[in-house]
Amino acid sequence: MEVIIQKDEDKASLLVARLIAKELKAKPSLVLGLATGRTMERVYAKLVQLHREEGLDFSLCRTFNLDEYVGLESDHQGSYHFFMKQHLFSKINIDPRNTHLPNGMASDLAKECEDYERLIADCGGIDLQLLGIGSDGHIGFNEPLSALRSRTREKALAPATIKQNGPLFESLDQMPKRGLTMGVGTIQESKHCLLLATGKQKAAVLARAVEGPITSMISATALQLHPHCCVVADEAAASKLQEQAYYRWIFENEPEWDDFH
Ligand code: F6R
Repeated sequence: MEVIIQKDEDKASLLVARLIAKELKAKPSLVLGLATGRTMERVYAKLVQLHREEGLDFSLCRTFNLDEYVGLESDHQGSYHFFMKQHLFSKINIDPRNTHLPNGMASDLAKECEDYERLIADCGGIDLQLLGIGSDGHIGFNEPLSALRSRTREKALAPATIKQNGPLFESLDQMPKRGLTMGVGTIQESKHCLLLATGKQKAAVLARAVEGPITSMISATALQLHPHCCVVADEAAASKLQEQAYYRWIFENEPEWDDFH
């Protein structure tokens, strides 16, 4: 795992967008795993900017989102389908047929999850998976005690997630309490993982995820087992990491990061 610390949320989001852009330029048919949530809004704004100002081309890119609520129509303002369209898909030159999210309205949710896994495999697997981290350490909707080898499945949302995302709905009653999510095992199979954490409210959980023991209580700790995982954090989110000086030294001195200073 590598940890890159940036001064603030804006710089951290720009770095993540530039890392994605680099992969997309190297492989225009990139299979890109996407996340939603407040942290991602700024990343997507930066990607839109790179598309508009520098012609970053998404025409061959294929995307798979991590998760979706169960029981929300895709045009519901709280759905992740809606979020992706609003923040990214409607603003770049991606072919909508190449964008995929689990369908939380499917009549057979187990089959939907199996089909989703198969579709990812048919595309050759995910090249780069973008991740946020929940206040309970989840990645996707992999709530505490998610098996570290879990696959795409239906999951009951934990109280911390309901508290975190509840304010995005008109009332708590309207927030679905279940989701479909790629599993921790599905995420582990991505060729690269890129996790972004910003804000001081993520500092404690990020420290446990990066420097704590691997545990299914904090799904993000499974990323410590991933051979190519990069964590980008702003100073606030990184503030509880023990080895900040070491991470900063690597970023400043390793040639692979020269283009990103
Ligand atoms: C959503 C997802 C979640 C979020 C996490 C952080 O697709 O994958 O794991 O990344 O809940 O959400 P924010 O960014 O809203 O704090």
